[in-house]
Amino acid sequence: MTSAEDDRLASQRALWQAEAAGFDAEPDHGLLDPDVRAAWRALLEPHLPPAPADVVDLGCGTGSLAVLLAEQGHRVRGTDLAPAMVAAARAKAESAGVADRVTVVEGDAGHPSYEPGSADVVLCRHVLWALPDPAAALAAWGRLLRPGGLLLLVEGRWHTGGGLDAATTTRLVVDHVTGAGTPQVEHLADRDDLWGGPVADERYLLHARLPPR
Ligand SMILES: C[S@@+](CC[C@H](N)C(=O)[O-])C[C@H]1O[C@@H](n2cnc3c(N)ncnc32)[C@H](O)[C@@H]1O
Repeated sequence: MTSAEDDRLASQRALWQAEAAGFDAEPDHGLLDPDVRAAWRALLEPHLPPAPADVVDLGCGTGSLAVLLAEQGHRVRGTDLAPAMVAAARAKAESAGVADRVTVVEGDAGHPSYEPGSADVVLCRHVLWALPDPAAALAAWGRLLRPGGLLLLVEGRWHTGGGLDAATTTRLVVDHVTGAGTPQVEHLADRDDLWGGPVADERYLLHARLPPR
């Protein structure tokens, strides 16, 4: 890794360290409102294989989605850059009684440390757009999947100008996730139930499945 990459990761880590304590206050971050929580469960559940599946959550933050999926019986491995996020995710899994199904490590989602072919599902919400090389990250994430595995990306193109629109993410997945075929996109901008209120961005779930062996 070059020192420029090290510097970029260090500044991202510092930024997210500072965000960790207040992160769950946003309804879609903490999933503390039972209706918002139920909406995310209902969004993701139809795509997931029967439990227990091996799920990797990259840039897992405070672990809200990791715990949600562990509560449904899945085995979840999360990675996050910021130690305070990792600590929050571990604490959340502990207090939800699913610590035996949630393992969270500190690391770079762009270079996940997991064994290739060890996951049934790779999940990433609101992280891909901020990585320096989304194409290389997606290629690495695709390699984590077993045959028939599922890539689930929740992304958006923010009103601030940041983010990735659905067409760009679709093209990135087609070009860089070997065997992903044609991803499907579900647009979520009008789903106030997921966000806890109206949003002014493009937001979507992209799912792509590798062929069975
Ligand atoms: C917008 S938050 C999303 C958190 C979580 N995915 C969620 O949806 O609740 C972005 C998260 O990505 C993490 N992150 C940013 N860059 C990262 C990287 N290169 N590797 C791993 N995590 C990263 C941050 O620490 C933060 O927890």
